[in-house]
Amino acid sequence: MTTTLPARTTARMAALVREIRSVVDRGLAPDLTAYLVGELLSPHLGRGDLLAPAQQEGDPERYRQHVLHAEPDGSFSVVALVWLPGQETCIHDHVSWCVAGVHEGQESERRYRLAASAGGAARLVPTEDVVNGPGEVCGFAPPGDIHRVRNSCTDKAISIHVYGADVSRLGTSIRRVYRLPAE
Ligand SMILES: [Fe+2]
Repeated sequence: MTTTLPARTTARMAALVREIRSVVDRGLAPDLTAYLVGELLSPHLGRGDLLAPAQQEGDPERYRQHVLHAEPDGSFSVVALVWLPGQETCIHDHVSWCVAGVHEGQESERRYRLAASAGGAARLVPTEDVVNGPGEVCGFAPPGDIHRVRNSCTDKAISIHVYGADVSRLGTSIRRVYRLPAE
């Protein structure tokens, strides 16, 4: 993944950040926070004035992360992930609650759970395949948040992610990369 650090955000993104702050500052449980932030994110997706042109640029080598906002107290951050056709993540989980909404294109997600094989070694078992199109939002909170995401369409895909942590400081929202056998 390539990361671009905070750039000037649009007025719409600034408004969304204020809305997210109003929820995060309530100090609710992580899963409820993710749900409410997802409700706020949804109406902004697909709007032409949400992202500046530079925030929609991909990288031919790997999916690209544009950091749009990092709250000074570290309580949340907002990024745009830009995926060119076929680009994908590793199998991973997350450092915090997360909300993801598709702004443009289509993303396919495979979710996994950890299981033990007959010999006792850990392995990954797929639990669900989800295809998310424009305007669709999903939110989750660890644990049980192991997945892999890929751009499954023939054009660029862009999704907006909100995390309950400062990914500009951490560099990534990924807590652990799983290199276990997967079915
Ligand atoms: Fe993820």
